[in-house]
Amino acid sequence: MEHVRLGRTGLQVSRLCLGTMTFGLQCDEPTSTAILNRAAEGGIDFLDTADAYPLGGDASTVGRTEEILGRWLQGKRHDFIIATKCFGAVGPNRWDRGNSRKHILDAIDASLERLQTDYVDLYQLHGYDRETPVEETLRALEDVVRSGRARYIGVSNWLAYQLARANGKAEALGVTRFDSVQPRYNLLFREFERELLPLAREEGIAVIPYNPLAGGLLTGKHSPDAPLEGTRFDLGSAGPRYRERYWHEREFETVEDVRLVADEAGLPLTQMAVGWVLANPAVTAPIIGASRPEQLRDSLAAAEQPLPADVKDRLDDITEAYRYGDAVR
Ligand SMILES: NC(=O)c1ccc[n+]([C@@H]2O[C@H](COP(=O)([O-])OP(=O)(O)OC[C@H]3O[C@@H](n4cnc5c(N)ncnc54)[C@H](OP(=O)(O)O)[C@@H]3O)[C@@H](O)[C@H]2O)c1
Repeated sequence: MEHVRLGRTGLQVSRLCLGTMTFGLQCDEPTSTAILNRAAEGGIDFLDTADAYPLGGDASTVGRTEEILGRWLQGKRHDFIIATKCFGAVGPNRWDRGNSRKHILDAIDASLERLQTDYVDLYQLHGYDRETPVEETLRALEDVVRSGRARYIGVSNWLAYQLARANGKAEALGVTRFDSVQPRYNLLFREFERELLPLAREEGIAVIPYNPLAGGLLTGKHSPDAPLEGTRFDLGSAGPRYRERYWHEREFETVEDVRLVADEAGLPLTQMAVGWVLANPAVTAPIIGASRPEQLRDSLAAAEQPLPADVKDRLDDITEAYRYGDAVR
């Protein structure tokens, strides 16, 4: 597995990051452990989680994913780069969410306890908080970094102007800037190519995109009639959200067009879809996901076999329309 620098930092991470949000609800602990083991065997040493995971859960499941990861990391913490996030609701109080100083300082300690570690390598804000001044957030994160509880900081689901403005403020305040961004990015959602990805390239900000397979739609296994049982599109509170994102006639038609390109290129559809994300020069490490260990095979293969330039060009053409739309949907 190739390694790359996390943006302009000196930190090296594997070219693929493993996402963990299926752990603790869609996947029980033995399955989660098997997925982590398979990823590690494949050379992945970069792991992404969040305090609010697992996906599709409720107040009773919050934190389970970090707990599972924490148990797995025992005895091997130093061999992995751990990224987690705060912002999503983790309790019933109004201050149990968002990017306030109060919540960030509570959230990092709770994550460290569940992960059974003294520090995370990358601490990310899971969303943009319109009600907290960005200076307050930056100063709280500076304290987290200064105290050694996080090595680097990043954001997720922020628009380009929000990140540019925040990093400008960080520079003016003389505090730690955001060195990574985690946007949604795949063949069916390309809006961030227009502003966020150029900003990241120009500023040396790492891009670690999620949903590279559009939650599984780009594996080509679903048919429009109904989601396959037990899959992401059928999962608790997440199912409706994912159907709203991707379960549309236009997306299904595009998957068929993309499948033709894969067949002609002699590549598995899943490998090609992940390979397309990897082929964007702004992308540092796509975050791949799985609900079973064997699903990782094609995603891992994408990191071993770069996408031929002509295949990338064809896919760019076919999905051009997805560059335009509503980036905050
Ligand atoms: N920052 C954010 O807001 C945010 C949002 C989403 C995700 N993330 C992060 O990104 C990670 C990855 O996101 P994602 O899981 O949405 O990625 P994804 O690659 O779009 O979807 C992964 C899902 O596709 C299906 N799949 C994958 N490989 C397959 C295969 N070979 N055959 C059949 N089905 C396959 C599985 O779902 P089924 O088995 O259920 O079909 C799997 O869980 C997450 O774990 C999380 O760490 C962050």
